[in-house]
Amino acid sequence: MRDELLSPEPTPDDIASGLEPALGQRATGGGDLIGEEGGLRPRHLEEFVGQRELKEHLGIILEAARRREQAVDHLLFAGPPGLGKTTLAGIVAAELDVALHVTSGPALERAGDLAALLTRLGEGDVLFIDEIHRLNRNIEEVLYPAMEDFQLDIVLGKGPAARSIRLDLPRFTLVGATTRTGLITGPLRDRFGLVARLDYYQPDELEAIVSRAAGILGIAVDQQGAAEIARRARGTPRIANRLLRRVRDYAEVRSDGAIDAATANDGLALFGVDALGLDKVDRAVLGNLCQKFGGGPVGLGTLAISVGEAEETVEDVYEPFLIQLGLIMRTPRGRVATPAAWAHLGLLAPAGAPLAADPGPSLFDR
Ligand SMILES: Nc1ncnc2c1ncn2[C@@H]1O[C@H](COP(=O)(O)OP(=O)(O)O)[C@@H](O)[C@H]1O
Ligand SMILES: [Mg+2]
Repeated sequence: MRDELLSPEPTPDDIASGLEPALGQRATGGGDLIGEEGGLRPRHLEEFVGQRELKEHLGIILEAARRREQAVDHLLFAGPPGLGKTTLAGIVAAELDVALHVTSGPALERAGDLAALLTRLGEGDVLFIDEIHRLNRNIEEVLYPAMEDFQLDIVLGKGPAARSIRLDLPRFTLVGATTRTGLITGPLRDRFGLVARLDYYQPDELEAIVSRAAGILGIAVDQQGAAEIARRARGTPRIANRLLRRVRDYAEVRSDGAIDAATANDGLALFGVDALGLDKVDRAVLGNLCQKFGGGPVGLGTLAISVGEAEETVEDVYEPFLIQLGLIMRTPRGRVATPAAWAHLGLLAPAGAPLAADPGPSLFDR
């Protein structure tokens, strides 16, 4: 299993840290996020680091809606966990000075659950549905007329005596978040006015996020220390914030609490995070590929068995990041280690090891 330290999913500790947007069921007017430390999270678009294009588009949409004094079009944020989708939902509500209502796909079991939420909305409010790809189909069908015509059809009674009534809803903004755009049905997707993808962050952006979080949490970290943490955070703000907290623990116990490059480096090494942000399963994949299978090609099934993980886990969870870093390649004959993989393990690549195909811009270019 992925080390908890490097998992992009939130842990209870992340939520307790005060950096996570632990959104309440209903925020007060002004978009205040519930929780004592609500003020610590980015609440305005300006404070949200990175995702330049998305921010620009969103900024224009919000400004236009403010000028017209209208609810904003429905928005869908897509992207891997930990990149800021929930945070953005909070920002939309705060920027518009409206209440935020929070739920998630799996939490809505019956159409009535959604109807109850919809009828509580005020004019212009934001309804945030996390993991919207996990909404069940019946509920999705209630959502269509609500999104499109701001109307809710309710069926009263059962059998021949059943009748349906139509309620008018206030104009609200639905903000959806999903980690799997591919699983969103066409009709649902088409009802969003903006579908925005969040990308992994660049190291300098993560560095800014680390510095900002350190400021909020009262942690002394210099620029090199922040850069060291950023470089190992797998492009993910949630992981960056978590690594910062672990390094702080280390710095408080082993030195005076201040974080510089050396402290960050030693602390992260102690917790088993290597220079590229790989954990022990990542390293086992690379190590076995190079040492047991001579660098490949080796079939996915064999590689997965060798590290004691399911095939799908290796394929969906571990490989994408290793491929993105240019450490392994998928070929028709199996998985292959690149020279960078050998180098990362401190091993000499055998002559004829394949060169990495261009993996695109590396997250970790120095
Ligand atoms: N662009 C950003 N700037 C600053 N902090 C961010 C940014 N994006 C995410 N974070 C922080 O990272 C953590 C995870 O963000 P979150 O919105 O919960 O991600 P998601 O909903 O996509 O999983 C939170 O602590 C949040 O404050
Ligand atoms: Mg979220």
